Amino acid sequence: MSPTKSNHNTQDVQPHDCAIPQSHDYTTPTLAKNPCRRYSESATHSTRCPRSPRHNSSPSAHKPLSICTHLVPDYNDIDLMSDLENWGGSEQMYIIGEEEVEAVRRVIESGQLFRYRGGEGGETDQFEHEWSETIGVRHTIAVTSGTAALICGLVGMGIGPGDEVIVPGYTFIATALAPLAVGAVPIIAEVDTSLTIDPEDIIRKITPRTKAIIPVHMVGLPSNMDAIMDIAHHYGLRVLEDACQADGGSYGGQRLGSIGDAGAFSFNHFKIITCGEGGALVTNDRDIFERALIFHDGGVAFREHVDQLRNPLFAGMNFRINEILSAILRVQLTRLDDMLEAMLREKRTIIHALEGTGPFTFNPIHDVEGDCGTTVALLFDSEERMREFTQKVRELGVRADTPADSGRHIYANWEPILTQRGAHHPALDAFKLAPATVTYSPDMCPQTLDVLSRTAYLYTNPTRPPEELQSMIEAVEVVLRAL
Ligand SMILES: Cc1ncc(COP(=O)(O)O)c(C=O)c1O
Repeated sequence: MSPTKSNHNTQDVQPHDCAIPQSHDYTTPTLAKNPCRRYSESATHSTRCPRSPRHNSSPSAHKPLSICTHLVPDYNDIDLMSDLENWGGSEQMYIIGEEEVEAVRRVIESGQLFRYRGGEGGETDQFEHEWSETIGVRHTIAVTSGTAALICGLVGMGIGPGDEVIVPGYTFIATALAPLAVGAVPIIAEVDTSLTIDPEDIIRKITPRTKAIIPVHMVGLPSNMDAIMDIAHHYGLRVLEDACQADGGSYGGQRLGSIGDAGAFSFNHFKIITCGEGGALVTNDRDIFERALIFHDGGVAFREHVDQLRNPLFAGMNFRINEILSAILRVQLTRLDDMLEAMLREKRTIIHALEGTGPFTFNPIHDVEGDCGTTVALLFDSEERMREFTQKVRELGVRADTPADSGRHIYANWEPILTQRGAHHPALDAFKLAPATVTYSPDMCPQTLDVLSRTAYLYTNPTRPPEELQSMIEAVEVVLRAL
């Protein structure tokens, strides 16, 4: 893995003596206290983790099926315009092909679809081992979704009724539902222009009941993990990284998900690697691992590994993944690093080409080398200008949208939370179990709403031919220069 770490501006004294490293800002490269790296400084070398022999394939090395589709549809495809109605990643998968079909066939023909009771040592065990190796952690538990991974992570940390968990106001609602699922209350914090949780607002939101922070690496962008870990250590809080949109990304040379006490990944249909629905919890902490293992499998008492657990059993659920999904994930994992590299390369090309061409800045990134590169975020000075931009580039057939229209990813639309209906039954409702009243309102995070309303997204595509990328860049540049 690249040892290069982002340059941070460490402010001397923050409230409660927590130093908050700042993110890169591509538009202000020479600030004395905040030396920023520009893409030109890092564009010439590969920044991905050294790949193991398993990771020696490239997207193009796999002959795609006819169902193999790309993140961004062909710009000449007339269906593109209707796809634009669907926010939040393409309605299509990134890369999937014959190898996944073969893997599924292999599992079905084996007659062993269950991970336990004969399936031990099979696809799931192997995927967990490979994912641990990739992320750089001791333990992985493959589960049925990113939501399940978040819930298992909180259970593993012993979070429960009476506890508060700080989450950002810009993330999929699942990040905030996970605390409720374990009886704790989500406390919503601002995101800053990096589109990730604002460390200063974390500090403002801490109470004596705060037990954990869930930073979310939204659209593949690493959160400010140095600042978050400093705060967590200072206040004795747990950190559960939500890397559901950032499979394989890194921060400071460490893979996302491996920096906090635990990390959660999603492999649903829209994620960087996918098996349709799936997830994984990672941790180096033996107790978090064991408690999550117990919780994810209500039948743990009947498994071979039960004797190795040092934690007492308690009632769990069923978030077990199956062998078919794990077999798909094992193939997807072989594609991951090459995809990330291709997307980051595209992103650098786009940023180099567009820098200085119009009235916008690029949203700052906390680690440009660990960014997954899925999304290019442009920050305008007003919502009107952002909308003019997205409208005009769409007219030229380029996919563009704004997080302001992302509905489910904005706290102001999280109805079950804003209305404090935390469970199906009042006796299980975290809001009713909480010792202190929390209040939510749609305008409680004005900074988040402001940043999202001025941000526009363009998308990379790991399999796009260079000439298509060039056409896309030229179209966007025309719009930016005319704004
Ligand atoms: C940031 C974030 N967290 C959590 C989740 C939940 O993942 P899943 O859909 O696999 O449950 C998602 C999924 O969209 C997500 O984007």
